[in-house]
Amino acid sequence: MTSQLVIKNLHANIEGKPILRGVDLVVNQGEVHALMGPNGSGKSTLANVVMGNPKYEVTDGEIWFKGENILEYSPDRRARMRLFLAFQYPMSIPGVSVANFLRRSLEAVREGNKPLEEGENPTGKIGKRKTVPPGEFRKLLQAKMQLLKVDNSFINRSINDGFSGGEKKRAEILQMALLEPEIALMDETDSGLDIDALRIVSESVNALSGPNLGILLITHYQRMLNYITPDYVHVMFNGRIIKSGGKELALELEEKGYEWLKPSDAENEVTADA
Ligand SMILES: Nc1ncnc2c1ncn2[C@@H]1O[C@H](COP(=O)(O)OP(=O)(O)OP(=O)(O)O)[C@@H](O)[C@H]1O
Ligand SMILES: [Mg+2]
Repeated sequence: MTSQLVIKNLHANIEGKPILRGVDLVVNQGEVHALMGPNGSGKSTLANVVMGNPKYEVTDGEIWFKGENILEYSPDRRARMRLFLAFQYPMSIPGVSVANFLRRSLEAVREGNKPLEEGENPTGKIGKRKTVPPGEFRKLLQAKMQLLKVDNSFINRSINDGFSGGEKKRAEILQMALLEPEIALMDETDSGLDIDALRIVSESVNALSGPNLGILLITHYQRMLNYITPDYVHVMFNGRIIKSGGKELALELEEKGYEWLKPSDAENEVTADA
């Protein structure tokens, strides 16, 4: 069965301020969706809310993944269901090597998400950790590193500590390759990359995409979409998706910007209060 992420009328606040104001979106395994829109329109907020970042308060709407309403689930449980978020600004964790970090996350995700027992807290921790044998892990990691053309020296360094912008993005994709998500939210994976890195990262995303992976690719620029052809393009404005189309919509945006799509202020006010 194809995994599906269904977002219905999603409203979310941060510190009492409404940011998402009714988002509807369906991403199926095997599809590539590009999410575009001006700075501050709510793209990262959407990715964070779907992944369960507790900073945001969902005030209305639903998020379904693989037929389950995941709104109350912890980010950990969502990840175990094979939902993945590649961060716009990945965090550094000094003292934790890339290899160790990846092995632990793989172990966690491999335990999966067993069905809730009656009365069990859906936000709670699940199961005991099963280890992935070091030999098996090394083999798998090597294969993924080759696929993504990641340098060997990289994996013994502390995760993201002193990494260049491009290296951080590569580390995110390496993690994604290893965890094999069914739906991946990729937040500006192309930002801060030089031309060669952009090509390599795009090729990596292409290498991972296929019938088993659905991607929501948040980006500002057409340039990444020269390498990765989206099936759908959506434009977010002021906390809502105001237009959806095919890949040609990205070209149109590149040419015309966002102004022509903006609802008039009056229209916006009316719907904001609705
Ligand atoms: N911690 C916070 N406190 C207050 N406002 C916040 C906070 N985090 C985000 N916001 C606001 O939420 C709005 C949406 O931000 P978000 O990061 O989702 O936008 P975005 O579409 O991802 O923008 P960009 O293209 O610049 O990455 C912005 O107006 C931002 O200032
Ligand atoms: Mg953002």
